[in-house]
Amino acid sequence: MRLVVLGDLHFFQLGVWPWQLFSKRLLGQCNLWFHRRRHFQPSLWPRIAARVEELAPDVLLGSGDFTTTALPGEFAQAREAWEGLVRTAAPRLGAYVVPGNHDRYTYQAHRRRLFEDALAPWTATSWPARWSLGEGVTVLGLDPTRPNPFNASGVLGEQQLDCLAKALATLPQSECVLVLCHYPIGTPPDLPEEAEGHGLQDKEALTRVLAESGRAIVYLHGHIHWPWRWVPPNAAKVVTVNVGAPMLTSATFPLGQGIAELVIKDGGVRVHRHVMDVDGRWTVSPEE
Ligand SMILES: [Fe+2]
Ligand SMILES: [Fe+2]
Repeated sequence: MRLVVLGDLHFFQLGVWPWQLFSKRLLGQCNLWFHRRRHFQPSLWPRIAARVEELAPDVLLGSGDFTTTALPGEFAQAREAWEGLVRTAAPRLGAYVVPGNHDRYTYQAHRRRLFEDALAPWTATSWPARWSLGEGVTVLGLDPTRPNPFNASGVLGEQQLDCLAKALATLPQSECVLVLCHYPIGTPPDLPEEAEGHGLQDKEALTRVLAESGRAIVYLHGHIHWPWRWVPPNAAKVVTVNVGAPMLTSATFPLGQGIAELVIKDGGVRVHRHVMDVDGRWTVSPEE
């Protein structure tokens, strides 16, 4: 089974009505106007979508932050892009997405359920989501996002953690389990530690639930815009994969941070990163 995972797409719109700025969005739009717009390149989308189509995945996953300040216009772009991708790539076992903190950027966007409306065919209404793909593979989706006027943090809470623990305990031992959640559960030692106001507040509790399940788990996430693969020291059977931000350009990633491909075969999972080099050629780095 082949899966493709897309991280922080962050579609944006530069023009907003003045009344749309009476919220945390004022900060987000200023950041967009003066900084983000130079680095996030939506013009890369057609090439990313073409690559996904070429890979012919059986399953498509999205790890959240489809938008920048959760504007209706950004959700319309995200919907059009994702719907088009699902149509052309036609993943035979379905497409599934979880929200990111930017998709619940304001209380109004959350109250009006803009994320749920825009991505309704591919997301859940209650969390954790349990998506049984068949062929011995289950994706458990988590939603720790909530509107937050001061920072970018998220929290799962006891109920979602309990349900996750129960799901992990009741799935057959032979089942291959992937957990899809926007936030990381830690950062590799060669990277700066995530600021408290940016991260998942109960990430230690989540790591404990994953580790205590005793299962081998692939934990897929985004949020910190930098791809990595890392095994937390306190959860030796959990492999975390930061899938990166496909349309975020920098000196290291001149044409975006690429996409992650997972190949599940004979009970094992291989992760490959597909990244475009400076000439627009896709390079693949195999990882165990
Ligand atoms: Fe993001
Ligand atoms: Fe995020």
